[in-house]
Amino acid sequence: MEKPMISLENVEKVYKTKAGPLKVLKGVNFQVNAGEFVAIVGPSGSGKSTLINMITGIDRPTSGEVYVAGQRLTNMNENAVAKWRGRNVGVVFQFFQLLPTITVLENVMLPMHYCGTYSGRRKERAMELLELVNIPDVANKYPSQISGGQQQRAAIARALANDPKVIVGDEPTGNLDTLSAGLVFALFEELVAQGKTIVMVTHDRDLAGQVPRVEEVRDGQLVSPSEVDERLVVRQAK
Ligand SMILES: Nc1ncnc2c1ncn2[C@@H]1O[C@H](COP(=O)(O)OP(=O)(O)OP(=O)(O)O)[C@@H](O)[C@H]1O
Ligand SMILES: [Mg+2]
Repeated sequence: MEKPMISLENVEKVYKTKAGPLKVLKGVNFQVNAGEFVAIVGPSGSGKSTLINMITGIDRPTSGEVYVAGQRLTNMNENAVAKWRGRNVGVVFQFFQLLPTITVLENVMLPMHYCGTYSGRRKERAMELLELVNIPDVANKYPSQISGGQQQRAAIARALANDPKVIVGDEPTGNLDTLSAGLVFALFEELVAQGKTIVMVTHDRDLAGQVPRVEEVRDGQLVSPSEVDERLVVRQAK
């Protein structure tokens, strides 16, 4: 049977620490269909970033299976995963992570260079993407010369460079003021409307409330938000 766009099956992640093994993901099952927009919420340290890193292949599970965009990640080596990620997953981080020594335009072109895509028209494509995220005017500036909101939009343009099916954000609005956060969020909504699949970690309950599907991570497990709804807990206790 064909897999959903994202499928985590019984995923466990154990980190080795000085104090001994630390189980951070405790058997996570998480399926996301093509075109879905999912927000991940949950307390600090619950395992949200670890979960996101499973989807991007930046990290791998201790046990369980991960399938993304038709690819089984758990049997691939690190190099193969990195290559695959470059074409299939756009990653947006809290602190933008643009390269400071090259211009905004060059940052957006970088994934095309790495993956050998869009040869001969990388500059044009990067410019189109900067227009899409509404910052064509800062193309030739360096990241340090533009605002946080502009940097994050540049990072989104970069994430879109190879036209990935899946976009993943780990608190992409976490370092932005309310206005910029709203603009970045609106951009995500636009991308979902265009058919992208998006999973976004956020601490912002207001933003999460606007996402069609919200999942909560608690102590390394996915719980649907209704399960932690206080009223429900009280009702069950009776
Ligand atoms: N590489 C690592 N080695 C050891 N422990 C780790 C490692 N990465 C994460 N952890 C631990 O795993 C747990 C979950 O971390 P994770 O970063 O996934 O949480 P989070 O939900 O993203 O938190 P936050 O909201 O603060 O970003 C934490 O206890 C963290 O200290
Ligand atoms: Mg985190």
